[in-house]
Amino acid sequence: MNYPLLTAEEAASLIANGETIGIGGFSSVGTPKAVPAALAQRAKTLHEAGEPFQVGLISGGATGNQTDSELALAHAVSFRTPFQSNKDMRLAINNEEVAYYDVHLSQIGQDVRYGFLGEIQTAIVEASEITDDGELILSTSVGITPTLVKMAKRVIIELNTAHSGKLTGMHDIYIPETPPYRKEIPIFRVNDRAGSISVKIDPQKVAGVVRTNERDHIGAFTPLNETTVQIGHNVANFLLHEWKRGAIPQEFLPLQSGVGNIANAVLGALGEDKQLPAFSMFTEVIQNSVIDLMLKDRIHFVTGSSLTLSEDRLDMMYGNMDVFRERVLLRPQEITNHPEMIRRLGIIAVNTALEADIFGNINSTHVLGRKIMNGIGGSADFARNAYLSIFTTPSTAKGGLISSIVPQVSHTDSTEHDVRIIVTEQGVADLRGKSPRQRAVCIIENCAHPDYRQLLWDYLKLSEGKSCHTPMSLRNALQMHIAFAETGDMRNTRFLHSEKIPSL
Ligand code: COA
Repeated sequence: MNYPLLTAEEAASLIANGETIGIGGFSSVGTPKAVPAALAQRAKTLHEAGEPFQVGLISGGATGNQTDSELALAHAVSFRTPFQSNKDMRLAINNEEVAYYDVHLSQIGQDVRYGFLGEIQTAIVEASEITDDGELILSTSVGITPTLVKMAKRVIIELNTAHSGKLTGMHDIYIPETPPYRKEIPIFRVNDRAGSISVKIDPQKVAGVVRTNERDHIGAFTPLNETTVQIGHNVANFLLHEWKRGAIPQEFLPLQSGVGNIANAVLGALGEDKQLPAFSMFTEVIQNSVIDLMLKDRIHFVTGSSLTLSEDRLDMMYGNMDVFRERVLLRPQEITNHPEMIRRLGIIAVNTALEADIFGNINSTHVLGRKIMNGIGGSADFARNAYLSIFTTPSTAKGGLISSIVPQVSHTDSTEHDVRIIVTEQGVADLRGKSPRQRAVCIIENCAHPDYRQLLWDYLKLSEGKSCHTPMSLRNALQMHIAFAETGDMRNTRFLHSEKIPSL
């Protein structure tokens, strides 16, 4: 099939002010590069000429700098969903320039198909090959690209030859039916295939193909440090204990590991612990440490929605395709994060919190309740449905000025009902079967930093003798955050007398 060739500028000129556009790719990889950059340039030119130009942006997850950064800097985005991890887009959102809809990543694809987000005029997607029938072999990720291609009125394809011939056969494209006709997803083992290797596309919708030859650019992970290594050991020791006592089956269970520096470090430490058996992964994002562990035979098989790998790890993979071709499968995020899959396969989920409260609620997204960091991503898809849901966090942030264990989180992403285990470098709090007061004692004892333990005990004492199921003080719940906001150090917290609660 021969689609017309376009330059990036020609493709960008097709997009009109006010359109909702879909950007393919996921977790900063497999995203289109040339057309979004040309679109940002077009927006700047139009703005200089006094003309308005903004689009709504729907993607699977984070996009590369060419999309989120350049479009945010060009003031070309009015609406963004469902996830970003880019400093320029973050700033535009926190400045209230961009309206941000932060939503579970398992749901965004079906939200688009259900029509919840209106019509998508243009989808811009990256492919590594176009088959003779005109179908797309995607590149380093899947995300919601199959849905965008299906739903958009017009599709622009970036054909990226940097991955030619490498990834064919490594995708498993499956879109669930629409209710009430949906059936079970036919994946019963981590490595089962449910769909096709390519994305079908209506040729009538293809506006053209833009050729590129550029790899994804992934920011470097921060090196392991004492804290992240200790968190990794604590998670490994906990899982080892559970496995030895038979609470995890002998063959072990598939693991999901979250995004970011801490998750990458924790997975690395976990995989290196030879007392644990080698395992498989059913995860959302495949980060660097997975590649290292596969080469050491510590991970048998991995399925995820993106290969979010640095240049050297992608080289390692492409240089060892005999090891990786049959052991890596890329799927839509709707499948990798699907509650049905997570519950059926019995996933052990390990995600990262910005802060946790003494009752087990988790904030993964908001600094001081107000400023978005990235977004909820898939963390709660996994947390709610996992066999075991673990959240990790260093016990302090910003050099000790902030305690990551607080009386009440300033924003809630995963609730106390979904979170089973909290791990910091201080230790492990196992919350299973515990009441709110028992959880508070367990978290303060095992997870809080010594600098903050007494403060947290003091908080707990405020509701002593007051009849309550959950020992919280309305007046003091956010005092630690207020102390940080006003003095720059949570250790300056002074609790007030707790309020009286009338018997209702
Ligand atoms: N209050 C304020 N800032 C905090 C904080 C707290 N309690 N805890 C951490 N931070 C800051 C850190 O200081 C750092 O800021 P800096 O870059 O200015 O130094 C930043 O948050 C990120 O922390 P870092 O230690 O580098 O963690 P990370 O890269 O592992 O990211 C999350 C942690 C929570 C931001 C990241 O995992 C995330 O976005 N999670 C939500 C989505 C998700 O879990 N997806 C996976 C689903 S499959």
